[in-house]
Amino acid sequence: MADLTRRQWFQAALPAAALLASCKSVDKGARGSVTVQEFGKLPNGETVQLFILKNKNGIETAITNYGGIIVTLKTYDARGLLADVALGFETLDGYLRPHPYFGAIIGRYGNRIGKARFTLDGVTYRLAKNDGENSLHGGVEGFDKKLWRARTESGPGSQTLVLSYTSPDGEEGYPGTLQTEVRYTLSDDDSFRIDYLATTDKKTVVNLTNHTYFNLKGQGNGDILDHEIQINASRFTPVDEGLIPTGELRPVEGTPFDFRKPARIGARIDADDEQIRRGRGYDHNFVLDREGEGLSLAARVIEPSTGRGLEVWTTEPGMQFYTGNFLDGSLVGKGGKTYPRRSGFCLETQHFPDSPNQPAFPSTVLEPGKEYRSATVWKFVTAQPKK
Ligand code: GLA
Repeated sequence: MADLTRRQWFQAALPAAALLASCKSVDKGARGSVTVQEFGKLPNGETVQLFILKNKNGIETAITNYGGIIVTLKTYDARGLLADVALGFETLDGYLRPHPYFGAIIGRYGNRIGKARFTLDGVTYRLAKNDGENSLHGGVEGFDKKLWRARTESGPGSQTLVLSYTSPDGEEGYPGTLQTEVRYTLSDDDSFRIDYLATTDKKTVVNLTNHTYFNLKGQGNGDILDHEIQINASRFTPVDEGLIPTGELRPVEGTPFDFRKPARIGARIDADDEQIRRGRGYDHNFVLDREGEGLSLAARVIEPSTGRGLEVWTTEPGMQFYTGNFLDGSLVGKGGKTYPRRSGFCLETQHFPDSPNQPAFPSTVLEPGKEYRSATVWKFVTAQPKK
């Protein structure tokens, strides 16, 4: 920078200045802030926004109201360096093309429903088969592809983006008008909380989650196999060839699914194990060992070279641990980075896949007059880096 002339410096700074000028400050807490800017336009001309939430320590996330997608998430490592840990795209266009649910809200039903159908009170509801014979992540045009209404709220020590969407009766085959609200809150205690709320006017099923892919080395910086993960689950739900749970709750003891003590993600990811083969790695729902009714620690992940870490707390009974086995490096993401196989992992807090067809699983039925409520907290932590 020292040998730039003033004019060169001004020119270099122009794009940043233009970006700042286009950021309208909608709210500003004592320390953190929320700003909003235009992210692009949908093919039908509707404007899509990008909200930037910052806490007093500089942790920052950018979220669009298209799909409720978390576009960036910048957290600190043990040395105080920020990195964007979420896989995704720089522009709206990236998200309008096919992609594996990067950062998105998933609904009405997270993960799979077997044979794309379920029965409620004797009526069979048919869904689109968008994953072989099965329905995946809410159908052809799930909540990840909807434009959500958005507003922001600032509290003492927290910034919130409130997204809402009304899913019409029969959308994607599901019964009932579903009023949905998702609240994303970034707090000064370095936590990011997701609150889901839904009501219906007809008996239905609902299972909402978020599909962020994390790489705690920073997005686009190689694979996630060296990350160390601990999952508080003594059982998991084994699957058939189509990744539909068989109904069994199998103990993790003695299997590659035992993460009750921290282990490298990559240590057993290619083990000679039928479940690992079916998932092409980890793509399974863990039955969480919950404590009490409220938020319970589900997982803790540490990236050893940077010491950057993440804890996941949830009110949900299950969590899908997915190691990006279907990523293939063909998508160009932020900063021109590509995302090869296993370059991100997801921790999708949820009710178990295929619950509408599995009477022994915790119920995902929502009745009129009742509220669906679910919460998940990502707590950003650090640990001593290992050499
Ligand atoms: C979930 C599923 C995976 C895959 C990804 C998206 O995690 O369980 O099988 O569909 O979403 O690619």
